[in-house]
Amino acid sequence: MRRVNGARSGTTRKHAARVAGIAAVAALAVTLSGCAGGGGDQAASGPKDAGDIVVGFAQVGAESGWRTANTKDIQRAFKDAGIELKFSDAQQKQENQIKAIRSYITQQVDVIAFSPVVETGWDAVLKEAKDAGIPVVLTDRAVDSEDETLYESFLGSDFIEEGKKAGQWVVEEYADQTEPVEIIQLEGTTGAAPAIDRAEGFAEVIGADEKFQVVASQTGDFTRAGGKQVAEALLKSNPGVDLIYAHNDDMGLGAIEAIEAAGMVPGQDIKIVTVDAVKDGMTALAEGKINFIVECSPLLGDQLVDIVKKVVAGEDVEKRIITEETTFTQEQAVEALPERQY
Ligand code: AHR
Repeated sequence: MRRVNGARSGTTRKHAARVAGIAAVAALAVTLSGCAGGGGDQAASGPKDAGDIVVGFAQVGAESGWRTANTKDIQRAFKDAGIELKFSDAQQKQENQIKAIRSYITQQVDVIAFSPVVETGWDAVLKEAKDAGIPVVLTDRAVDSEDETLYESFLGSDFIEEGKKAGQWVVEEYADQTEPVEIIQLEGTTGAAPAIDRAEGFAEVIGADEKFQVVASQTGDFTRAGGKQVAEALLKSNPGVDLIYAHNDDMGLGAIEAIEAAGMVPGQDIKIVTVDAVKDGMTALAEGKINFIVECSPLLGDQLVDIVKKVVAGEDVEKRIITEETTFTQEQAVEALPERQY
């Protein structure tokens, strides 16, 4: 199982030693560390300056407002830190991410960071990075691997907790209703950590009361167009639905369009709960078209820079760093919107 607890990485940088520099020193470093790479370079030549560090980042894509904000924040943070960032957009395809990671290995970057589009299927390429002495940092999404030595740290949200928060709001909102509550779930990308975990956390909470019935659940791939298309079809086949739970704001915004196109009032005739809290989602919440949003912060750039610096310097890093997040009601969205960065 991939679940990572808060344990420290016991393997930090021991394996990292890229074959570069003066042959004799490199040979000594290799002998001492038992492998090749960045940690060996540091031992031989002192800490690297930020300006000498090169990071390869393999992004999921540009599927949502959250992703756009995440990309901007990462690019801004590395620019501010004076660290070179090589950036690739996988267009939500795992094969593109694997190609990008292989290219970063060939280019011998100092650190590879990526947000895995899906959870499984990473062991081979991560092993290639490890064998090349290039440390890997996971941001935003987890991988499902037995081997936790394949990456240094995982920085991102607790998606199960997000699903639970959404479920708790639903349970409270319908506390006085004895009739069945019919729910449509708009899932994120099939196989992606946030889709799996947000469904799991939500199901765990609402599952305690059998009046909550998920009458349909289908992927909208985390996009607005996908959310609209799936909601349109599912609303037709489930005319009695009370609530839509969307795994992100964009799909919730697509659902709003579908509800309005069906001649109903979003937020009233059909309630909507989403995850993210990007500006468009918060605006819809402030207008009463969405009823509740669970925050998922895309602002991971500065923390990622810190992790990269520590990893390159051969310092210990936390194996799991969980992002702090909150939730928003309509009133809270009205208050928070003027200051919202993304
Ligand atoms: O992995 C984070 C999720 O990916 C966000 O909730 C979603 O909007 C994005 O596409």
